[in-house]
Amino acid sequence: MCGIMGYAGPQEAAPIIMDGLKRLEYRGYDSAGIAIGNGTIKVTKAEGKIVNLEALLEGEPSNGKIGIGHTRWATHGPPSDANAHPHADPSGEFVVVHNGIIENFQAIRDELAAHGSEFASDTDTELLAHLVAREYDGDLADAVRRTVALSEGAYAMVVMSTREPEKIVAVRKISPLVIGLGDGETFLASDIPAVLHHTRDFLIIEDDEMVIVTAEGASVETIAGDPIDRAVTHIDWDAEQAEKGGYEHFMLKEIYEQPDVITETLGGRISEEGTVWLEDIEFDDAYIAGLDRVWITACGTAYHAGLIGQEIFRRVLRIPANVEYAHELRYADPIIGPSELLIAISQSGETADTLAAARIAPEHGSRMLAITNVVGSTLSRYADDILYTRAGPEISVASTKAYMAMLIAQYLLALRLGAARGTVDRARAQAVAHGLHLMPAAIEEVLRREDQAVVAAERIVDAEDVYFIGRGLDYAIAMEGSLKLKEISYLHSEAMPAGELKHGTLALITEGVPVVAIITQRAVYSKTISAIQEVKARGGKVIAVAYDTDTEIERHADMVLRIPEMNDLLAPVAAVVPLQLLAYHVARLRGHDIDQPRNLAKSVTVE
Ligand code: F6R
Repeated sequence: MCGIMGYAGPQEAAPIIMDGLKRLEYRGYDSAGIAIGNGTIKVTKAEGKIVNLEALLEGEPSNGKIGIGHTRWATHGPPSDANAHPHADPSGEFVVVHNGIIENFQAIRDELAAHGSEFASDTDTELLAHLVAREYDGDLADAVRRTVALSEGAYAMVVMSTREPEKIVAVRKISPLVIGLGDGETFLASDIPAVLHHTRDFLIIEDDEMVIVTAEGASVETIAGDPIDRAVTHIDWDAEQAEKGGYEHFMLKEIYEQPDVITETLGGRISEEGTVWLEDIEFDDAYIAGLDRVWITACGTAYHAGLIGQEIFRRVLRIPANVEYAHELRYADPIIGPSELLIAISQSGETADTLAAARIAPEHGSRMLAITNVVGSTLSRYADDILYTRAGPEISVASTKAYMAMLIAQYLLALRLGAARGTVDRARAQAVAHGLHLMPAAIEEVLRREDQAVVAAERIVDAEDVYFIGRGLDYAIAMEGSLKLKEISYLHSEAMPAGELKHGTLALITEGVPVVAIITQRAVYSKTISAIQEVKARGGKVIAVAYDTDTEIERHADMVLRIPEMNDLLAPVAAVVPLQLLAYHVARLRGHDIDQPRNLAKSVTVE
């Protein structure tokens, strides 16, 4: 996720673009740059926060009435001046910024290199600049169209050129893009808040559309070039609402971003047949074949993602897999050897406990693979291998979309390792790949049922304690549902394997006590039903999370939060969403500061 900004009009473009980039900084902040047209195109860029770019521009101002800018959240290549956008072709006449991922990056790079191209950066974006330059034969929009035809993936790209100096040409393929219409000036941005103080009239660009922007306005077309008569959307939100995309809280916005996050995490990494490519993984098939065990270490929500990973790796690789809290692993005198892989999971890549646990791997001669959201984070620098989750910056302290991306990343890793070990046959790989590709639509469907979570929240908002139960993968989801609820609603809750209830905690189940039962795993379905019956017999109130196709559950639960039917192995991805919504609505009904819950910080950098 990156931020894009553009301007064409009578004013100096640079200050307007810089102001917009600052407002977009929440979308990514590891480097930034601008390109200003004035006969030639002057590109200025800097690693780090936007203040670094600002400092450069103070020394060397860029004058011109048209330009584009970008704030980056790295996906290809670490944050650096060279990798910051905009990127130009070697002549400097075609300049591109881009948000998203070009999935056939390597094939394009190899092809361009075979024809003698040299590259100034590690990015996929630079390739787009090369392609546009190569494809240009007198019409910038046509050159962009041909470039899009060659570039697979989900992205937004924005191009300017000295050859057609009055225009900006942009394309949306999934990554967001809006056009702000001013009086004799036109703005382009990833998000409405970046330009809301200039105009309230917008053209919302949809997937597979192109827009040609000049100071006089913007024309929207299909990528094939057919004109589209896009109605103007007038925005009434205030600036704060706009930053949250119209949602009341960042947490809700991030919950709703999850279908897109899944698309990003999968992007370019998995075929329909289930073949997986992971770009920053250095180990080879011989190393994978020799693996005896997988360790996973993490804290909090990332640990809960690891609970899912542990089960997936065991099932798919048929070798032992253990997840340990990072703060425990470190002092547990673990027996880890060179034929064991340590996977450290951390959204921020800066959690002190996780960093300390990750250091155990080199001490024992084993490899450490980081699953993290932040390119260039400390964890990624410690790692031998990296799997970036590509969730984009997460602002709400309570993690939702980052957790989702950690799950998807682990499915990818399991398929990759399983293929090398020969434990995943073609049919299974294909089935999992199919399920993953359908997942964004499945999550959209769960989100459409938010009102069910509101009803469930109303039922538990006044409770003193809430219990979450499930078995196997459902238990791992119960853990995450319980943590979400307590951290933002401040309601006491506890999660346990459904079979454990009768070994003590059942004493606390009395008339009206709410129990949330996750029941997606068919192999243990009847066992979870037994636990639900134990709860019902004591007067407890059961809210179940179950498949649409499960008709049996209605006979046992007081209320059911439904998810679409899917492969049980993938069910956690969908089952967590109603629980995120449940936690959110309980906290909202209780009137809490949802995005910044008391006593908690987004990144815990002390042990
Ligand atoms: C809960 C939450 C925390 C983090 C934990 C680890 O919603 O966000 O439990 O998951 O502090 O953080 P990272 O993933 O940054 O290592």
